[in-house]
Amino acid sequence: MVKRDLLSIQDVRDDFNEIIELSLRLKRSRYQKQSVVEGRTMGMIFEKPSTRTRVSLETAIHQLGGNGIYLNPNDMQMGRGETVEDTARVLSGMLDIITYRAFSSENMRKLAEHSSVPIVNALDDREHPLQLLADFLTIYEKIGKFSGKKMCYVGDGNNMLNSTLLTCAMTGMDLSVATPKGYEPKKEYVEKAMSIARETGSKIEISNDPVKAVENANIVSTDVWVSMGEEKEKAAKEKAFLPYQVNSKLTEGADKNFIFMHCLPAHRGLEVTDEVADSVHSVIFQEAENRLHSSKGAIVYLLSH
Ligand code: CP
Ligand code: NVA
Repeated sequence: MVKRDLLSIQDVRDDFNEIIELSLRLKRSRYQKQSVVEGRTMGMIFEKPSTRTRVSLETAIHQLGGNGIYLNPNDMQMGRGETVEDTARVLSGMLDIITYRAFSSENMRKLAEHSSVPIVNALDDREHPLQLLADFLTIYEKIGKFSGKKMCYVGDGNNMLNSTLLTCAMTGMDLSVATPKGYEPKKEYVEKAMSIARETGSKIEISNDPVKAVENANIVSTDVWVSMGEEKEKAAKEKAFLPYQVNSKLTEGADKNFIFMHCLPAHRGLEVTDEVADSVHSVIFQEAENRLHSSKGAIVYLLSH
């Protein structure tokens, strides 16, 4: 069996809907162990802090009948100079699947290349595929379909936006993006998304105009302005992003039944106001819980293929 990695959300393009359906079934049978996972061990290497990803993955593997080992690079030989390549070879002799939250997508790629077991990207500088599985499970539950619906993303051209661009294109969902000038998504991701969108019929628009982007959106989403590792840019970013706050005034232009999404953690009063985050439109805590169910979907899927 050839191992399957989940480094980019594109890696499951052909099976995206299958994973969403599987996640939904696993959500309904929450405590049922799965034979494909029983007795298996998942390593979880985290170079950056995490609340949702760590807890959802650890709970997921436990409920499915396997075990999780949390690995902090500071406590590993990797933190003292053992190479990523050697770490990959050693860990794949013992573990059945590895999740990795990394500063660098280059290290993510190296870990995957030199490992014989599936590697799951638990966030890096380029993408956050596990989050997109949870987001689209939530959209499926709340709206029922992807194609023909419109998402709007107001905020930073970061890892979340890269994965959102690809997922909208893959599922036929329209996406209207508004970022401040200089914080647009990477050209490479826009081009990839546009090319997939040509096949699926999804409409992708990139602009610097949040009011226009939000017009008639079924889903309004955002993310932190300052991602992990960007702390030095905090002052400059907070200034540039102020007109891009998701607040009640901005969301007036959205569809009247819009849902508000955020991968969390939220910096309330910055990228989103309490008024929106705690409104009837907000699905942020259902989205957070769905990290558990969709991670289970991803684990079962990767260990079965
Ligand atoms: N959304 C998300 O990945 O949250 P954590 O950083 O808490 O894992
Ligand atoms: N863009 C954020 C997502 C956190 C889940 C970051 O990388 O810090």
